[in-house]
Amino acid sequence: MSERYVHGYDPRENARLQDQAGTLVDLLHSDTSYPAGSVVLEAGCGVGAQTVTLAQRSPGTRFMSVDISPDSIAVAKRRTNAAGLTNVEFRQADLFALPFGPESFDHVFACFILEHLSRPVEALAILKNLLKPGGTVTVIEGDHGSAYFHPSSDAAQRAIQCLVELQQAAGGNALIGRQLYPLMVAAGLDAVHVSPRMVYVDSSKPALVDGFTKKTFTAMIEGVRKSAIKAGIIEPQAFDAGIQDLYRTAGTDGVFCYTFFKAVGLKK
Ligand SMILES: C[S@@+](CC[C@H](N)C(=O)[O-])C[C@H]1O[C@@H](n2cnc3c(N)ncnc32)[C@H](O)[C@@H]1O
Repeated sequence: MSERYVHGYDPRENARLQDQAGTLVDLLHSDTSYPAGSVVLEAGCGVGAQTVTLAQRSPGTRFMSVDISPDSIAVAKRRTNAAGLTNVEFRQADLFALPFGPESFDHVFACFILEHLSRPVEALAILKNLLKPGGTVTVIEGDHGSAYFHPSSDAAQRAIQCLVELQQAAGGNALIGRQLYPLMVAAGLDAVHVSPRMVYVDSSKPALVDGFTKKTFTAMIEGVRKSAIKAGIIEPQAFDAGIQDLYRTAGTDGVFCYTFFKAVGLKK
């Protein structure tokens, strides 16, 4: 991989990606479907958390799902096989050195990968080049600056800031969601449209409390405990207090909000 991947590849992180995808299917994918007969590149498929939804929602489409991590690809393959999907092919490859010629694909889909790259515009331009004219690039990213909650907590915000700083140090950008429009335009995509997708969680939505507040967002922040302490950006007690306050927002009187950004751009 060209940059260090801040979340790592351990089984707990893989489970988190599955929880995230499962919880957010409607919010992120209700309007993702591709015409029968089309060929779609999924860039940075990871453990296949989005791949299964994509392939199920567009059964007549052929997906080429690539990731730089062979281990993640192996997990993704098992998942699509278990789901009985036959319209997905996997390839291990670096997004910056993809083994496909120009205009190989009808559409491109990329979820939670640009945030890990130091050259997101270059990556988008590469993806655009792989598209046939009239094809689209769909990008989904989060933005950790969009997390706010009740009870408010400076300690929780400091713990979140650790991930933002670690990701920045690794060459990525945890606040990329708000930048999707200018990045897509800079990559030469046309008719760019961004739609913010807010996750709102209170205790009347127990599935989201568990699947999003606890198992997606807080688990993600908790996952950088060791690296944040090792990097000297926070003391263990301060980090743990922040995590405790994040879990506190999952209480009966707690509320958690977070915004994802979905962008679609066209190759003329
Ligand atoms: C947060 S995961 C997202 C996976 C999946 N799209 C999802 O939504 O669950 C980011 C993925 O990007 C992959 N990745 C990072 N840099 C890459 C690169 N240069 N080329 C291909 N894949 C890359 C990582 O291996 C990881 O699987």
